[in-house]
Amino acid sequence: RMLKRQMQCRLDIDRLNAAFLAIYESLVPPEEETAKQKQFFMLLEKLVSKEWPEARLYLYGSCANSFGVSKSDIDVCLTIEDAEIKKSEVLLKLADILQADNLQNVQALTRARVPIVKLMDPVTGISCDICLNNVLAVVNTKLLRDYAQIDVRLRQLAFVVKHWAKSRGVNATYQGTLSSYAYVLMCIHFLQQRRPAILPCLQEMGTTYSAIVDDIRCAYFDQVEKLRGFGSRNKETIAQLVWAFFNYWAYRHDYANGVISVRTGSIISKREKDWTRRIGNDRHLICIEDPFEISHDLGRVVDKFSIKVLREEFERAADIMQYDPNPCVTLFEPY
Ligand code: CTP
Ligand code: MG
Repeated sequence: RMLKRQMQCRLDIDRLNAAFLAIYESLVPPEEETAKQKQFFMLLEKLVSKEWPEARLYLYGSCANSFGVSKSDIDVCLTIEDAEIKKSEVLLKLADILQADNLQNVQALTRARVPIVKLMDPVTGISCDICLNNVLAVVNTKLLRDYAQIDVRLRQLAFVVKHWAKSRGVNATYQGTLSSYAYVLMCIHFLQQRRPAILPCLQEMGTTYSAIVDDIRCAYFDQVEKLRGFGSRNKETIAQLVWAFFNYWAYRHDYANGVISVRTGSIISKREKDWTRRIGNDRHLICIEDPFEISHDLGRVVDKFSIKVLREEFERAADIMQYDPNPCVTLFEPY
């Protein structure tokens, strides 16, 4: 009877893994979508280089970090070296150029915290935000993309977590919850911490890539093709990792003292970072260190109300993974 029960258990886990993998596969953008994005990006490059021959365009965010789900908007960064330029003038000029080329809904948001031009391409239906000289975002996009190549379980876990966060309404920084970028960092950190580790800490390894951006030295090991199979001694599957991820954020993380740090591949203390009290609007109720801008806590948007919402959602997810007979459905139920 015991053997029979064990076998039943195996079957259940296999079924749950298959269900999570099916969700992951359904979220991955199809090839033709990526091709369309590239094509649209090339059109933008052409328009921009006519006006500013020295300028360069980069894709960043989910369309370039390999954590983008199907039908996402694309994030583009325009870099112009000229120190004399006025940001708002460049963005207004850019909006004019795009408008003249029949792109739709063109808007220059020059007063936003991160000033951008928004637009929509009527041919492909792709919406796009263009920001100016945000090179750190381009570099952290590369870091995320490099991590994703080491072990496929990172991409699987992050897709499930992002999908959960969107379904449950906890992926909106303007409401005090976390950005997609923050969730991906939480996943990377989590996989660095598994034993045996599933991901290494690239910033603690020998430097093969380095750039100085806004006076910040961004350096790490980027020859990730040499790291394939790094996590293969760890046999955990996606279902186990989703369970453990939510269990960690629901019941194990030390919210009072801990800062998660992808840069060091470990947990560091709030005291060490002087993140123990509220300064201005930064409350540090959940602390996620940016890998390059290390004075930046990605949890700083979280306030005393939204921290409750977040932690209750982590607990709900952990309890569903523990007890629900059909977690793949319940986990993503709209709130
Ligand atoms: N970013 C950043 N610092 C933040 C938030 C975002 O540097 N505090 C940059 C990162 O390069 C990130 C990009 O902006 O990849 C886009 O952020 P976000 O919209 O959170 O992530 P996406 O990966 O684009 O997710 P989504 O699919 O939800 O659009
Ligand atoms: Mg985005």
